[in-house]
Amino acid sequence: RAWSVQRRAMAVFVTRRIPVEGLRVLSQAGGCRVQQWDSEEPVPRAELLAGVAGKRGLLCLLSDHIDREVLEAAGPDLKVISTMSVGFDHLALEEIKKRGIRVGYTPDVLTDATAELSVALLLSACRRLPEAVEQVKNGGWTTWKPLWMCGYGLSDSTVGIIGLGRIGQAVARRLKPFGVKKFLYTGSGPKPESGAEFEAEFVSLTRLAEESDFVVVTCALTPATQGMCNKDFFTRMKKTSVFVNTSRGSVVNQEDLYNALAHGQIAAAGLDVTTPEPLPTDHPLLSLKNCVILPHIGSATYATRSTMAVLAANNLLAGLRGEAMPHELLL
Ligand code: NDP
Ligand code: DGY
Repeated sequence: RAWSVQRRAMAVFVTRRIPVEGLRVLSQAGGCRVQQWDSEEPVPRAELLAGVAGKRGLLCLLSDHIDREVLEAAGPDLKVISTMSVGFDHLALEEIKKRGIRVGYTPDVLTDATAELSVALLLSACRRLPEAVEQVKNGGWTTWKPLWMCGYGLSDSTVGIIGLGRIGQAVARRLKPFGVKKFLYTGSGPKPESGAEFEAEFVSLTRLAEESDFVVVTCALTPATQGMCNKDFFTRMKKTSVFVNTSRGSVVNQEDLYNALAHGQIAAAGLDVTTPEPLPTDHPLLSLKNCVILPHIGSATYATRSTMAVLAANNLLAGLRGEAMPHELLL
């Protein structure tokens, strides 16, 4: 059974096995009694509801839906929620705010790792790397052929970034040396300071779709961005363009993406995030050669995950002590 309990004063519930450095921060802090779902697998809902009951702090992951039911199961003692993620779309923020609960999250520390993975995914999709590797393995590589396994390169291209935030800017910074000619971005409004480094132009979503050779989605999932990349969006994209999403699966209408890829409306896609996660192994998107899908590994370097765990633990402790958190999400 995946429970481990340490006896001390303030009760907290940790919903998963996290990097040891993070747990160490909690266990070495005076005044903290840790109950943990000590497993690689997500805590079953019933165990989450039972585990959080009467706790003062909750350290959770993006796969835990912290909604009204969880908050009610926790009861009035719950004062701090610390998520080991920068995304917070899994938290019912209105309900949390109503109860005066503070929230910690992990921005910045995962920006480089996620931007790096976004670039890797983009290159894998536009230069058809998984397909090419498969050809080597299955004997499809017979000789060097001028027209075989060609894709699209970044040189002289236009890159459109949906959400020029921390990760979006870090992606642009990495892509610029590949010879990108023009950066476009869209969001809730122009951000001249963020765009200046890349001479990026703020445009409408429609213009971004129409003019980009590469679209990279790095925005947060919000009611406004949910389903934003849909049939209309993909229809406007160039037939030679490549679509990459490392934000959240729900920003994309996957059926519309499937149709765009299957019918040659766009050239290729790279997805690190899907709906649902995990994507069922018989999902139609997995049957497409021009769709590269990764299992949500944007921040998955040992160092980054360790730093995220330590930050999440420190956010939790600061919240429990009524101190300023290293990174608090202001509600
Ligand atoms: P930021 O808050 O720095 O950036 C989010 C961006 O989303 C902002 O630039 C914001 O632009 C933009 N945005 C908000 N509303 C819209 C909109 N309607 N249209 C277009 N853009 C919009 O967050 P991060 O860069 O740190 O992280 C971004 C997201 O990446 C996270 O929320 C998470 O979901 C995802 N993520 C995924 C990872 C992975 O493993 N694949 C790893 C880490 C993060 P504006 O300011 O103009 O509103
Ligand atoms: C996040 O932090 O939101 C990512 O999706 C995982 O690191």
